[in-house]
Amino acid sequence: MAGDQKVIVGIPKETAEHEQRVALVPETVSKLVDKGLDVWIQSDAGLASNYLDETYEESGATICSDRDQLLSESDILISIQTPAEEDLMKMKSGSVLICFLWALQNEKTVELLKEQNITALGMDAIPRISRAQSMDALSSMSSISGYKAALIGANELDRYLPMMMTAAGTIAPAKVLVLGAGVAGLQSIATAKRLGAVVEAFDIRPAVKEQVESLGASFVEVPDLDDDSETEGGYAKEQAEDKQERQRQVIHEHAKKSDIIITTALIPGKPAPLLVTKEMVQDMHPGAVIVDLAAEQGGNCELTEAGETKLVNEVKVMGPLNVPSMLAYHASQLYSKNMLSLLNHLLKDGDPQFDFEDEITLKTTITHQGEIISPMLKDN
Ligand code: NAI
Repeated sequence: MAGDQKVIVGIPKETAEHEQRVALVPETVSKLVDKGLDVWIQSDAGLASNYLDETYEESGATICSDRDQLLSESDILISIQTPAEEDLMKMKSGSVLICFLWALQNEKTVELLKEQNITALGMDAIPRISRAQSMDALSSMSSISGYKAALIGANELDRYLPMMMTAAGTIAPAKVLVLGAGVAGLQSIATAKRLGAVVEAFDIRPAVKEQVESLGASFVEVPDLDDDSETEGGYAKEQAEDKQERQRQVIHEHAKKSDIIITTALIPGKPAPLLVTKEMVQDMHPGAVIVDLAAEQGGNCELTEAGETKLVNEVKVMGPLNVPSMLAYHASQLYSKNMLSLLNHLLKDGDPQFDFEDEITLKTTITHQGEIISPMLKDN
């Protein structure tokens, strides 16, 4: 990549079902062009998120109608979803791929990346440290999911969310229960509060209580939960079955009174914990709504089917997929900003450099020169 030739950054059109986002928006393209990079974007790559080819052109991008050419000539290929195997096969040896990779769950892809000599960086592997906050695409996408989940719940509910005092009588505010108060959960709480609901939330990490209360929601206390619920990285640990059972008993009592339950609980590398059983759903009132944001990881509700809305005893159980993509314009903008920060971190004089002494580069790089770099994968 060195020499006089400019580094080509390629953005293919996303091909996954339900994917409306684009990995780089025009504003970011112009920043990369200013840095001396050549940016190629597949024609109509931004159309589904309302970024048009003309705007990319004005930002200095080259519109490329030949996908194969874009894949095979890019030095740095940037996408949201991992490109399909046939696309990876077309990438050139020694090139760089940056996208969501979920390497722990995708062994076969990692093998292929090694074989193809692709330097692959996972946006999902960026460490959750303050220095990397501007690159943290997991947080920006989770925040969108949390916001949208509250809107989906409100939209599906046959009741008002705020208290309404009308000439025809007073209506009590709706009750929203949020399970899992990480980035997505906190945004669901904030959104449901803005809409006027009474909000309660539960998380196994006791540290979250203060954040929940600062948003004006109440924290559901489960007695005798010990402090050993959090990893050093701030993530939740899988809980012993007796503790999970105790949590479920408490959640059951709160579920009976809830109009909307939003579940967001995840444990990295494990299936989503079961928080809402079918007995709880049976005890909810007709018309209540469950929005299960953990659907892609197996669901927090026993009855969730990924990508489906089911009516069980007149309770709507929803398992929406790729929720950030529903807000494609802003999701693309934020992902693009995260990507630019990562590129700024990697690029030295317009060329990507891989310094594995640096924590961000080390943890984010999955494969390089045919080897696995990520300590997360090596230790697994
Ligand atoms: P996540 O998406 O992995 O999980 C969502 C939430 O589910 C977490 O709050 C987790 O504690 C909770 N959970 C797991 N099992 C549960 C159960 N059985 N019952 C109830 N709740 C359960 O987490 P997310 O949102 O990605 O955040 C993880 C951590 O990373 C948080 O501590 C967050 O503050 C931290 N973080 C740090 C950042 C930084 O410093 N740059 C940026 C973003 C997050």
